[in-house]
Amino acid sequence: MELVNKLVQQYAEKYTSAEDVLIAEVGMYTYTNHAHAQMLSGHLQGKFLEMISCMLRPKRILEVGTFTGYSALCLAKGLVDDGILHTIELREEDAATAKSFFDRSFYKNKIIIHVGEALDIIGEIDETWDLVFLDADKENYINYFNRVMPKVKPNGFILADNVLFHGQVLEDEIKGKNAIAIQAFNDMLLERKDVERMLLPLRDGVFLIRKL
Ligand SMILES: C[S@@+](CC[C@H](N)C(=O)[O-])C[C@H]1O[C@@H](n2cnc3c(N)ncnc32)[C@H](O)[C@@H]1O
Repeated sequence: MELVNKLVQQYAEKYTSAEDVLIAEVGMYTYTNHAHAQMLSGHLQGKFLEMISCMLRPKRILEVGTFTGYSALCLAKGLVDDGILHTIELREEDAATAKSFFDRSFYKNKIIIHVGEALDIIGEIDETWDLVFLDADKENYINYFNRVMPKVKPNGFILADNVLFHGQVLEDEIKGKNAIAIQAFNDMLLERKDVERMLLPLRDGVFLIRKL
């Protein structure tokens, strides 16, 4: 299902500031060399993540699902001077690609990449979070949320990507393990009294969740 009209997308991209040179390079590299390049946030969503981060000026950011590093470089732009972004990636090859881009960036010493299972690693990082971006395996979204939520500061934000899951959550009968998991995540949030939430129909759907 096409969630955003192509002409609207092109118009929005035309009037959105261009990507930084290195961030554009991550995109080009990924589109040229990676079989799953569609996972990358891309121009509009990347700029949205950058804007949110620049508004919040976070000290500690956690990203779950690094891929080739595009969204991490966008989120890092809002970090305060002594801010740190932790990002977690399961696949060693993607983590190595991301690290090669981080090392060439201004954020070389501000981005820490962890390689392995996110659920294990989240528990091992002794931090409290101003901003969390969930963008790894959809079946674990509820687990990720439950694990990070106690460590999110009051008024801190969790952003979750792909919460419309290509429109599959709109269907009468939701099929496929990922769409079912996303629907369960969205329904779980409906019941929570300790968050304020907004489902933004940007790209594949981004949930903005503020811890009260
Ligand atoms: C949608 S991509 C992330 C895209 C990236 N945030 C961006 O916008 O460019 C999801 C990533 O999560 C990783 N991933 C999947 N399951 C994971 C897990 N259990 N632990 C850590 N990373 C995982 C995948 O290998 C993949 O690179």
